[in-house]
Amino acid sequence: MAIGIQTAAYLFASILFILSLGSLSSQESAKRGVFYGIIGMIIAIIATVLGEGVAGQTYIIIAIAIASAIGLMLARKVEMTAMPQLVAILHSFVGLAAVLVGFGSYLDPKTHELHGAAHIIHLTEVFIGIFIGAITFTGSIIAWGKLEGKVRSKALLYPGRHAVNIVLLLTSIVLGVLFAKQEGTNGMMYLLIMTAIASFIGVMLVMAIGGGDMPVVVSMLNSYSGWAASAAGFMLGNDLLIVTGALVGSSGAILSIHMCHAMNRSFFSVILGGFGNAPVKGEAKAIEGEVTALNHEEVSVLLKEAKTVVIVPGYGMAVAKAQYPIYDMVQTLRKAGKTVRFAIHPVAGRLPGHMNVLLAEANVPYDIVLEMDEINDDMPNTDVVMVIGANDVVNPSAQDDPASSIYGMPVIEAWKAEKVIIMKRSMSAGYSGEDNPLFYKPNSEMLYGDAKDSVEKILSFLKA
Ligand code: TAP
Repeated sequence: MAIGIQTAAYLFASILFILSLGSLSSQESAKRGVFYGIIGMIIAIIATVLGEGVAGQTYIIIAIAIASAIGLMLARKVEMTAMPQLVAILHSFVGLAAVLVGFGSYLDPKTHELHGAAHIIHLTEVFIGIFIGAITFTGSIIAWGKLEGKVRSKALLYPGRHAVNIVLLLTSIVLGVLFAKQEGTNGMMYLLIMTAIASFIGVMLVMAIGGGDMPVVVSMLNSYSGWAASAAGFMLGNDLLIVTGALVGSSGAILSIHMCHAMNRSFFSVILGGFGNAPVKGEAKAIEGEVTALNHEEVSVLLKEAKTVVIVPGYGMAVAKAQYPIYDMVQTLRKAGKTVRFAIHPVAGRLPGHMNVLLAEANVPYDIVLEMDEINDDMPNTDVVMVIGANDVVNPSAQDDPASSIYGMPVIEAWKAEKVIIMKRSMSAGYSGEDNPLFYKPNSEMLYGDAKDSVEKILSFLKA
């Protein structure tokens, strides 16, 4: 393929990627965004594989076919609730690819035909690319392990860890300077030592972050993987990879900042592995009050009497796949003249936009799905709040218990409504492991059972 055609194809693919990111910012246009992304990636792959200086196309096509088949199989099999783990492990591949591209480029004889400044610049690209790639690779594997329950979810904080990280970083910089001065492949030892150090930093950065902050970590690793891809683009002299990597890197960073705001966490504290995270102080507040429970028929009576209903969905709704009967219940209530709305917490479920995707899948109209900030002020005027499979996102300790690990995170103030019905299977804690005083409030009632089963039973009483 002529270089001019390849450049035009790269430019077109870059535009499609930008359109894709733009469209992904709203639910109505998200499908279109995914479509733009797919087309952009197909164009990018074809233009690269058929580009000048690329040999062994047959092997590349076979590799792409095998990888696509594996990707398709995984994507079809994975449960929506396990998406963050899949995303985390895919980020690790990008990191590993940047490390391999770096070593490949260093071993390429063409690298050592360069002289003077050009040689030093290229070696610096190789060094930085491998550094970011190795951190992304091991950090993503630890993130996967934490989300999958294979690695302890609690933050691993040891005294002096920041000093250790700074020493490791400074050592890497010294190694980089020594590496860039070497002729031929004499710098291999420096490169290998730095790769080991960067891999260790990746592990320790993510180990230092508690389970509750994992959403931010996953989007931050998404950003790191973008920068790793961009670094690989510099090493390969591939403009499209540089642009695409920068798009992923910056959009991942912006998403992380938004999530930090939503969770009232310091962005720098999260990306630097818990830097400045004050240890939780004092004893947890004793929970007062008694737990009372209702049955399905009693809930249906409360709903029949209510004028305004707010539904707060959480991770349990996703596990139970309760969104479909919830949609039927909402339709029934709306037909009976009730005002029914959804209150969505920014980190409800296990991935950004998790609840919005599930509700859209069940055809719930967008205009009744409100963000936490849009609906919190209406809670005191709400007759019934149904908390369906949510826990941490409605935990009042986030506002009034400084000893709680989620203290400071904004939450949906369900307890301000006239009546709160909490639908879950037991009294067990949410993702953060914190008990929830909401369950003990005088205006709260538990409805035990699987969310889907419970909603179906309530619906049958509503229709009776
Ligand atoms: P959680 O705090 O995880 O609570 C979900 C509740 O659902 C559990 O207490 C569980 O109680 C219940 N449940 C599970 N299966 C159920 C079923 N089949 N039927 C009914 N209930 C069921 O959920 P949340 O309120 O959505 O909060 C999300 C948490 O995950 C936050 O701490 C957040 O920081 C974290 N997180 C979020 C993300 C993103 S980006 N959204 C990513 C990673 C982590 P029972 O066992 O008693 O039923």
